[in-house]
Amino acid sequence: AQSERDQLYKIHEVAQSFFQEQLHETEEGRLIGLSYFKERGLPDDIIRKFQLGYSPEKKNAFTEYALEKGYSKEIIEKSGLSVFPENASYGIDRFRERVIFPIHSFSGRVLGFGGRILKNNAKAAKYLNSPETEIYHKSNVLYGLNFSKQAISKQNLCLLVEGYMDVIALHQNGIQNVVSSSGTALTTEQIKLIKRLTENVTILFDGDAAGIKASFRSIDMLLSEGMNIRIVLFPDGDDPDSFSGKHPQEYVEQYIAEQARDFIDFKAEVLLQEANTDPIRKGEAIRDIVKSVACVPNALKQEIYLKEVSSRFGLSEQSLFNELGLQKQVQQ
Ligand code: UTP
Ligand code: MN
Ligand code: MN
Ligand code: MN
Ligand code: MN
Repeated sequence: AQSERDQLYKIHEVAQSFFQEQLHETEEGRLIGLSYFKERGLPDDIIRKFQLGYSPEKKNAFTEYALEKGYSKEIIEKSGLSVFPENASYGIDRFRERVIFPIHSFSGRVLGFGGRILKNNAKAAKYLNSPETEIYHKSNVLYGLNFSKQAISKQNLCLLVEGYMDVIALHQNGIQNVVSSSGTALTTEQIKLIKRLTENVTILFDGDAAGIKASFRSIDMLLSEGMNIRIVLFPDGDDPDSFSGKHPQEYVEQYIAEQARDFIDFKAEVLLQEANTDPIRKGEAIRDIVKSVACVPNALKQEIYLKEVSSRFGLSEQSLFNELGLQKQVQQ
């Protein structure tokens, strides 16, 4: 007999084919889903490569399909693809009237889905994602890794972006060493997946307040794992997807190469801009940077970073070392 995990893998394969067929082979899918992807500039080969799909408006299209295929109510429910309200004999699809992004494991098996809303409906979440299941542990998965792993190894660099569309847009533009944590805060497990391929990460987050906040969290996580990091900030209002859509590959690559800064420069610019000339806030900004330095596991690297902070702010190395010692105590 098939184990429950095997059945869950299998039903995700079935669902991926179902959503893909809905996108390409039904009138509703072509009219609503496929035209949406086309409007966003995605050509057929990319739509196929990422196995993009469409979930119809009908409340139980997938649930019915899966039941007909012989899957039990229990497995369908455990897959997270449907919910069966209590005392009801019917199930309701999790994804309805959304375009679908399959989420793959390192080796390319479908583990779950993200679904993007098509209308700008302020009430519903823009992206809906599969819940945690027996085969999908969000904190262990990076979106795009199965498509990007060779390029990451070959270039010895991983670009880290926020969203599904950022990964896909960069691939379309010929930039293939890119993954996304897709809406969750970057985890140690995700960093370890990258570390198997490279120790170099360039963070490309959205040029808005949320993007900067997320990048700050990711910086400390990556430093703690001993990664070498650089950060690129996009013009306000742009994300890698929108930026990449406006410029050719060479321009995007050059922008990334020229704008990439180390975390000290990046944090200094963001925090000092906020601090203005206020000496108390300036002190807090420096302490915040030293807090990141304290995450670095290698003592030699720490010293090099502190020297940089020292010369950048005209502060003595001794006082920075004292602060570093305090921060390390806090972190323990
Ligand atoms: P963004 O809001 O920046 O989305 O969220 P995006 O990828 O640029 O989306 P488009 O271009 O409008 O389609 C970044 C990522 O955060 C997650 C998704 O993974 C998204 O790609 N997210 C965002 C969610 O999980 N739920 C949400 O409601 C919004
Ligand atoms: Mn497990
Ligand atoms: Mn954003
Ligand atoms: Mn975005
Ligand atoms: Mn976007």
